[in-house]
Amino acid sequence: MAPKILFELESKFGSTYGEEEQAAMMRVLRENAPTSGDHCIAFEKAFAEYCGTAHARVVSNGTAALFLALLGAGVGPGDRVLTTPLTWIATAAAGVTLGAEVDFVDIDPETYNMDPARLAEKITPNTKAVLPVHLYGQCCDMDAILGLAQKHGFAVIEDACHAIGAEYRGRKAGSMGAAGCFSFHEQKNMSTLGEGGVITTSDPELFERAALYRSHCTRVYGKSTKYCSLDEAKLPMGKRFWWQDFDDCGYNFRMTDMQAAVGLVQLAKLDALNARRAEVTAQIQEGLAGVPGLKLPKALPENKHVWHLCPMEIDAAEFGMGKDDFVFAMREEHGVRIGTHYIPLHWTTAFQKRGFRRGQFPVADAVAERLVTLPIHPRLTDEGIAHLVSSIKALCRRG
Ligand SMILES: Cc1ncc(COP(=O)(O)O)c(C=O)c1O
Repeated sequence: MAPKILFELESKFGSTYGEEEQAAMMRVLRENAPTSGDHCIAFEKAFAEYCGTAHARVVSNGTAALFLALLGAGVGPGDRVLTTPLTWIATAAAGVTLGAEVDFVDIDPETYNMDPARLAEKITPNTKAVLPVHLYGQCCDMDAILGLAQKHGFAVIEDACHAIGAEYRGRKAGSMGAAGCFSFHEQKNMSTLGEGGVITTSDPELFERAALYRSHCTRVYGKSTKYCSLDEAKLPMGKRFWWQDFDDCGYNFRMTDMQAAVGLVQLAKLDALNARRAEVTAQIQEGLAGVPGLKLPKALPENKHVWHLCPMEIDAAEFGMGKDDFVFAMREEHGVRIGTHYIPLHWTTAFQKRGFRRGQFPVADAVAERLVTLPIHPRLTDEGIAHLVSSIKALCRRG
């Protein structure tokens, strides 16, 4: 019989809550658990301060953050949006759902991030936005990408969903482009009860537009600033206490106060949680050093890597087993669930329907045949790490 998947080595890794989060939730419950209230505003302020941006707006998830950031940057039909094929579908789907043409840029084989040299080749006059993804928690080569943005006039929307707290040359992920998009999904470096997200920006126009569309483009005049910016001068109030208008048809991508209150507590713990991830990764790397056929990840000196995931490449000939057999044997024989982040998007039905084909991005194609991700999170114990390492070693050339 296959061993039971070990709790700490299974795929629902990420969320690390304690008594402080429980206390925060009870407080909000006693306040009738509102939405878009004071806890959301406090979390936004703290998150913007942490990232060093003028604004932050909490949203329901990272997908909504990406969609609203592109919308805020004015992306629509006829525009071209570029991103990496090695990402979660949400990054590319944001442009598609806004009616833009989405194309991919091949990756750097060492960092797995978008290769700026290949980005330069893909820019056309219609390129309105580029979405670099700070994959696994390591920032992209932002100097090169921002240099191209300045030259060609496109907006850089950072997909920082893996990179909460990461830095590039001392600048926080999410503070370098026109906007940053974060996810607080249960597997991310900090979480807001399983789902959640935030947009960061210092661009007042992008912020205003993204914030409006987040909540049905609502404008409330006269009484409340709860859902939107207040512009009392715009309407004569007369005897009216309150007046509502909608600039356009928008969405409900709001976050609840219960989530935001937990987010505030998680944000205070984030640096410690990230430091623990770095320790866990260092222990795994040390344990696996010298195992034939494994390529372990590199953090570049200009980056503070926050190790959302720990990628590893397997050379089938050297290791004695290919990726698929490895993932299967780790689960069936050792009770460890290994990840495959990600299936390149040009391999998927969604993008093959849009004219893409396998083999079109050769670096991503080759890497994806060998790449797995190890289940790292702050709660991993020394025993868990030892089990992970010894299980991998046991499969190498079958021990
Ligand atoms: C790189 C990347 N972008 C975007 C998202 C979307 O975030 P969410 O799941 O919160 O919608 C994810 C989520 O896994 C992600 O990994």
